[in-house]
Amino acid sequence: MKSFTAVFLSVVAFTSALPTTIIDARAEDQATATVCQGENFTGDCIDIPANYNQCVVLPEGYINNTGSFKVAPGAFCRITYTADTCSLHGDAFVYPTPGAPTLHHFDDPATGTQIDAGSTFTSFLCQQCSGCA
Ligand SMILES: *[C@@H]1O[C@H](CO)[C@@H](O)[C@H](O)[C@H]1NC(C)=O
Ligand SMILES: *[C@@H]1O[C@H](CO)[C@@H](O)[C@H](O)[C@H]1NC(C)=O
Repeated sequence: MKSFTAVFLSVVAFTSALPTTIIDARAEDQATATVCQGENFTGDCIDIPANYNQCVVLPEGYINNTGSFKVAPGAFCRITYTADTCSLHGDAFVYPTPGAPTLHHFDDPATGTQIDAGSTFTSFLCQQCSGCA
């Protein structure tokens, strides 16, 4: 009985300490990107926590197969669709509003033409941005 109580108390201590730690880390160090296989945030989607200033390569199923991408307020991201991993400056900036809802019909800033960026989108890098909403 004694050891059961000790285990129980340590589980309570662990679970009550955990949420604060996660929230703090997310608020201070991370962006949250949402990636969907379909355009306009349809089909399979995942939320990807992204440490600021660190390249994230899209997971299997999404690499070269993304219809839409957005980032939660408080950050912007540079997306790369012309290389296998984040290029130095990225190919385009994506802000929380409007995000990039139609990556298969994307206005490429480098060429000024509409391209299918979603079929070659491999990676992204996010930065903190207090004014990004
Ligand atoms: C996504 O939404 C835009 C704007 O409403 C629309 O023009 C486009 O056809 C939609 N794309 C798909 C694949 O549904
Ligand atoms: C993604 O597409 C690019 C361009 O076609 C290709 O070079 C790369 O190997 C692809 N990556 C994966 C993981 O399929």
